[in-house]
This record gives sequence, structure tokens and C-alpha cells, in this order.
Amino acid sequence: MRGVILAGGTGTRLHPLTRITNKHLLPIYDRPMVTYAIEALVGAGVTELMLVTGGTHAGEFLRLLGNGHEYGIDRLSYAYQERPGGIAEALGLAERFVDGERVVVMLADNVVERSIRPAVEHFEVQREGARIVLSPIDDAAHLRHLGVPDLDDGGRVVRIVEKPADPPSHYAVTGIYFYEPSVFRIIPDLVPSGRGELEITDVNNWFVAEGKMEYDVLEGFWGDAGESIDAYYEVNDFVRGNGANKACGPREPRS
Ligand code: DAU
Repeated sequence: MRGVILAGGTGTRLHPLTRITNKHLLPIYDRPMVTYAIEALVGAGVTELMLVTGGTHAGEFLRLLGNGHEYGIDRLSYAYQERPGGIAEALGLAERFVDGERVVVMLADNVVERSIRPAVEHFEVQREGARIVLSPIDDAAHLRHLGVPDLDDGGRVVRIVEKPADPPSHYAVTGIYFYEPSVFRIIPDLVPSGRGELEITDVNNWFVAEGKMEYDVLEGFWGDAGESIDAYYEVNDFVRGNGANKACGPREPRS
């Protein structure tokens, strides 16, 4: 399985910090944000990675990561996103790198307390389709800033709503996504959303409609450090006190 880390976008929610650097280079506790996503993937056994970024600070990633070996990466490729056209557009740039394999995508502003290895292993044995990773969140106000799944009585995802005014469940869709190679056939047909982006939620809803979407529920803390300045500090405080990407025991998949 190949890994794609998305570190583009404008980071406007962290202005003015992100006027002088890329959001994913800002520190989380003692190291740059992007290194947590790298550690999550490498720790789960995904060591062929592509980093997608854009904007004026793209070169800094090369200085930070080099060939990636220091981070346990076997092969590190880079792609440049010309404009922040959305998460799905950024993923589309990785098509040749992924080269017909299965892929796990991780947003570089997401930080997890526990290893994502269980989800990687569940996708390895999943017959087809896509897989998302959910995190339980009780605060409806928080969920309004995220993707939220609507689940039926059997616990299957019936749709995902992006930034819902009225969240249909108490789960957030985290920025960790698994796809079979057919994902790259869907992206060219996407229509830009109201915010002018190709939305990963539209990709995910395509798999939901096909009946090919499964999920895991994350154990432990999950944070999106790019959501707001308060979220950024919440993630910093959590990691400083508790660490990140720690091993977890085996768990049954929810599908
Ligand atoms: O963090 C989880 C959330 O991420 C999900 O719950 C949402 O469903 C999903 O849409 C996404 O929401 P955000 O509003 O947080 O997405 P944002 O635009 O902040 O982009 C998240 C990351 O994706 C960002 O850190 C870098 C990458 N990105 C984003 C855009 C728009 C790119 O690489 N290129 C882009 O053009």
C-alpha cells in the first residue's frame, strides 16, 4: 500500500502564522506538524510515500525531509499543487506515484494518539472500495467544522455531510482515507463545491453510494491542528502531555 500525505492548502485559519510559512511546518510540541503524519504512516508499515504541497514554502519540505530515510521512509516522492483546489484535487496529483496500488491518504494537519496500524491492516483484507476512520466527538459545534457520517441502524455509513449545520451523528470523519485504485477515475468527474474545491467528501460519498465504504473508529485522541488557532494549541498541549502515534491493541473493524 502506498501513502500520500497532503500538505497543501492556504492555512487561512491560522493566519498570520501561515503568511510566513506552510501550516504543516509549524511546530507541534517539539517538531514540525507534518512529521506526525509521516510517523503515523511509517509506524503502520507504509514506507513508500508521496508528499503533496504547494504555495511559496514548498522547498522547505525538501530541506526538512530530504529523501525521507531519516524518518523511516523507503521512497519519498514530492508533488506540487499549483493552487489549493481541494483535497481530492491534491490526491489526483499522486495518480502516477500510486501506480495502480491501493493508497492511504493522510492530511498533514491530523494528529492521532494511537497507531493507525489496525485500520491499515483492515484495509489490507478489505475486498474492495474505500475505508474512512472516524473519531467520536460529542460537541456538535465542533462537528459543524468537519465531515460527519450519517449511520443507519446497522451502523453502515449512508452518507457523509461536509460541515453540517445539523450533524447527523457524533462522529467526525478524520483526514485518514483508504482507497482502491479506482479512486483516480472518480476525481476527474468531480464538480467544485461552494468553496471552489474538489471535495474528498464527494469522493467518499461515491463509494458510499456504491455500497463499498467501510470504517474504523479511532482509539484515543484525534486532532485537526489546522482547524483553528485553539485547535492548534489543543493538539500541541495534548501531544506535549501524552505523545502521539502510540501502539494500540487489536480491535474489531466496524463496517
Ligand atoms: O481534518 C478532517 C477534516 O478534513 C474532515 O473532517 C473533512 O471532511 C475534510 O473535508 C477536511 O476538512 P478541512 O476543512 O479541515 O480541510 P482543509 O481545507 O483544512 O484541508 C485539510 C488538509 O488538506 C490541509 O491541511 C492540507 C490539505 N490540502 C487542502 C487543500 C484545500 C491540500 O493538500 N490541498 C488543498 O487544496
